Amino acid sequence: RNSSCLVLSFLLFILCLWLVSVGSERQRKACQEDWLLNESNCYEIHDADPSNQKTWEEARANCSGYNADFVIVHSQEEKIMLSENHESGYWIGLRVENGRWKWIDGSDLAVDFWIGTPFDGQCAVSVQGVGWRSVSCADRKRWTCKKKALCV
Ligand SMILES: *[C@@H]1O[C@H](CO)[C@@H](O)[C@H](O)[C@H]1NC(C)=O
Ligand SMILES: *[C@@H]1O[C@H](CO)[C@@H](O)[C@H](O)[C@H]1NC(C)=O
Repeated sequence: RNSSCLVLSFLLFILCLWLVSVGSERQRKACQEDWLLNESNCYEIHDADPSNQKTWEEARANCSGYNADFVIVHSQEEKIMLSENHESGYWIGLRVENGRWKWIDGSDLAVDFWIGTPFDGQCAVSVQGVGWRSVSCADRKRWTCKKKALCV
């Protein structure tokens, strides 16, 4: 029994060595295919055609399917990056809760003038050349997902 335990440990050790070597080969590939790397985050822009566009809730569930979530925008640079080359509206992780604009992590929107007056039932889309617009959360839109890059 002890010796089979030893053999097992040895095999696990070899397996670990192998995983580490495969991992380092892949290290440059911080995002999965079709996702964009920017500042240690991976973004996916879902250019869904009209029949595949989703409500805010549905689109967020789609991001979850990739272990990702909507984008929470932390800086002016990120705000600009997201709106580049994307004319129509894309859902972001901002919606009205109890009369206030709230990010999906529960934080308040820090910069009020980035979007209009909050009304319940409204969610935010990012639109190129326009910035953010407040639309009904039940509208069907394109969306973007974001997650941490694997190794940068
Ligand atoms: C996300 O939505 C796209 C476009 O509708 C679809 O092709 C894909 O299968 C969905 N992925 C998940 C994980 O729900
Ligand atoms: C991230 O996006 C910004 C804004 O478009 C750009 O200036 C910056 O170079 C990008 N960074 C990387 C690492 O691609």
